[in-house]
Amino acid sequence: MKNIKAIIFDAYGTLFDVNSAAEKCKDKIGNKWESFSNYWRTTQLEYTWLRSLMKRHKDFWKVTEDSLDKSMKVFNINPNMKSQLLDLYKVLSPYPEVNETLQLLKEKNYKLSILSNGTPSLLKELVSSNNLKVFDDIFSVEEVGIFKPDSMVYDIPIKKYKIEKHEVAFLSANTWDVSGGGNYGYKAIWLNRNNIIFDNLDYFPENQINNLKDLLDII
Ligand code: LAC
Repeated sequence: MKNIKAIIFDAYGTLFDVNSAAEKCKDKIGNKWESFSNYWRTTQLEYTWLRSLMKRHKDFWKVTEDSLDKSMKVFNINPNMKSQLLDLYKVLSPYPEVNETLQLLKEKNYKLSILSNGTPSLLKELVSSNNLKVFDDIFSVEEVGIFKPDSMVYDIPIKKYKIEKHEVAFLSANTWDVSGGGNYGYKAIWLNRNNIIFDNLDYFPENQINNLKDLLDII
């Protein structure tokens, strides 16, 4: 990859494990914890897309709570667990290779930033609770009041850094976010952690990795 000036990361599912909140409660939730967690994540994302289309923006924290509320009813989970799950969602764990990879990238002098649906305070807490001190900027969709994959979101770092779209390497494990960033004009890299199938949405990433560490070989 040539002429990259900034490496921009998606947060949820890419740096931070969205299943780690429910996993920490698996003793109480039981075997269904993983299906429940996947349903919560899918519902959360659907709500972001639907709210953007309906032009009824609510911040990501409220969307996370709304989607949790529905998911707990669907999976018949004791309502008393809601506050615990939400508290855990504020301090999601990073994937194992994240800290070390980010440190090594930092030595290479790229701008490193996050671009996420999360609110500024949620993202700040995630980064500080996991001691990730490498980021130049943490960009939140709250700046433009609409969720990914609206192009206004992907515009945020371009305007701030005054760079071209193709000078951004954009990392996401969320296929739809790779499609969003790629269609926008970023060089989007797909972090395909679980060997899944990519989307048919007019963009196919030239680069795909299975572990964030592999980024060090292509950048
Ligand atoms: C984010 C969601 C897409 O962090 O995971 O923006």
